[in-house]
Amino acid sequence: MKSTMPRPPVTLATARLHLAPPRREDAAEALAAYAGDPEVTRYLTWRPYTEAGPLADFLEARALDWTRDSGHYAYLIRLARTGAIAGSIGLVLDGNRALFGYVLGRAHWGQGLMTEALRALLDWTDGEPEIFRAWAFCDVANPASARVMEKAGMTREGILRRWHVAPNIGPEPRDCIVCARVR
Ligand SMILES: CC(C)(COP(=O)(O)OP(=O)(O)OC[C@H]1O[C@@H](n2cnc3c(N)ncnc32)[C@H](O)[C@@H]1OP(=O)(O)O)[C@@H](O)C(=O)NCCC(=O)NCCS
Repeated sequence: MKSTMPRPPVTLATARLHLAPPRREDAAEALAAYAGDPEVTRYLTWRPYTEAGPLADFLEARALDWTRDSGHYAYLIRLARTGAIAGSIGLVLDGNRALFGYVLGRAHWGQGLMTEALRALLDWTDGEPEIFRAWAFCDVANPASARVMEKAGMTREGILRRWHVAPNIGPEPRDCIVCARVR
C-alpha cells in the first residue's frame, strides 16, 4: 500500500545553508566538524564519537531511513559557500507530530545558522495539513537552544520534568524546556 505519510524534501537550500541526507563517507568530516566535540554534545543524548567508523555506521543507518519511510529524516547541514559540513538537523514524524533535533559545530555558533535551518523545516511542516504540532526540547541548562526554537517560530510551553538523560552530564534524567509550533 502506498504510504500517505508526509515526507520532507530530500534537500533544502537556505540563504547560507544546504541540507541533504548524510552518507557513510561523510563520517570523518562530521567527526571533526561537530560529532567528536564534547562541548557540542554536552546536553545531547549521545556521547561524542572518538572514531569515524561507528559514526559512519550511524550515518549510513540515517541514510537508510530515507529509503524506507521510517518517519525519521536526518540531514547534514553544509555551508552553501564552501560545502563544508557544519552540523546536523533531523525530524521524527509521529502521527500529527514532528519532533526536531539539531546540532552545530562550535566554529559556527552564534551566527543564526541553526535558526535558519530550523525555520526552513518549519516552513515545510507549516505547509503539511497533517502536522499539527512541530516541537523540540532542550536541556534546561542549554538556553541557546531554547532561543533557537523561539527565534525560529516556536513558543515556549514549559518544562518537562526529568525528560531526558544527557549521558555526558550524568545518568539521571534531566528537566527540559519544551517549545512547539501548533496549528
Ligand atoms: C544550540 C545551538 C544549536 C545554537 O545554534 P546557533 O546557530 O549558534 O544559534 P543561533 O545563532 O541561531 O541563536 C542562538 C541564540 O542563543 C543565544 N544564546 C547563546 N548562548 C546563550 C546563553 N548562554 N543564554 C541565553 N542565550 C544564549 C544567542 O544570543 C542567540 O540569540 P540572539 O540571536 O537573540 O542573540 C548550537 O549552539 C549547538 O549546536 N549546540 C550544541 C548542540 C545542542 O545543544 N543542540 C541542541 C540540543 S536541544
